[in-house]
Amino acid sequence: MPACWTLSQGIGLTYLVPEETGMLRIRVLHGPNLNLLGTREQSIYGTQSLDDLNSALRTLAKELALKVDLRQSNSEGELVNWIQEARKEYDGIIINPAAYTHTSIAIRDAIAAVGLPTVEVHLSNIHQREEFRHQSYIAGVALGLIAGLGPTGYLLALRGLCDHLTAVKRQKKTSRPVPARRAAKGTK
Ligand code: DQA
Repeated sequence: MPACWTLSQGIGLTYLVPEETGMLRIRVLHGPNLNLLGTREQSIYGTQSLDDLNSALRTLAKELALKVDLRQSNSEGELVNWIQEARKEYDGIIINPAAYTHTSIAIRDAIAAVGLPTVEVHLSNIHQREEFRHQSYIAGVALGLIAGLGPTGYLLALRGLCDHLTAVKRQKKTSRPVPARRAAKGTK
C-alpha cells in the first residue's frame, strides 16, 4: 500500500516508496578511514571529500532513477550489520571495504550470505601498492571489482550494477514459468 498523508486543507498526498514503483535500490558502503577523504594521503586518494563523492553518486542515481543509500563506518561489525539489513530492502551493494578488504572474512561471509550482487570499489589500484593490499577477501564473492580510477570508479560501479540489475529484472519478466503440472511430470 502506498503511504498517504492528508494535508490540513483535506488534500491527499500519495508517496510511492521505491519498492512500489519498481525503482532499483542500491546500498553504498564506505569502510574505515574513508570519512577522511580529501585530507587523507592526498597523493593516493585525491582531494575529493566523502561528501563530494556522495553528492556525485546522488546526482547519478537521480539520472538513472535509482534509490541509493550511502553509509560510512569505521567499524567492521556495523558494516556487517548494514550488509545483512540490505537483504530486505536493497537489490544490490557497492562497497569499498577499505582496509577490511585485506582482513575481513566477516564482511566476505556477510556478502555471500545475503547473496545480493555486490561491486567492490577501490580508489587506488591495490595491485600496484604494498603486497598486503594485493589480496582481497571480498573479490571472490563480488560481481565485479573496480580499482585505481579514483571517485570515477564508484560512478562506474553504480552504472554497471544498474545495468546488471536491469538485465536480471528483464530476464525474470520474459522467462515464462513452467506450468506446474508439466513441471511435476518432469516433461518439457
Ligand atoms: C582503499 C585501498 C585499501 O588498501 C586501503 O586500506 C583503503 C582504501 C582504496 O579505496 O583505494 O583504506 O580501499
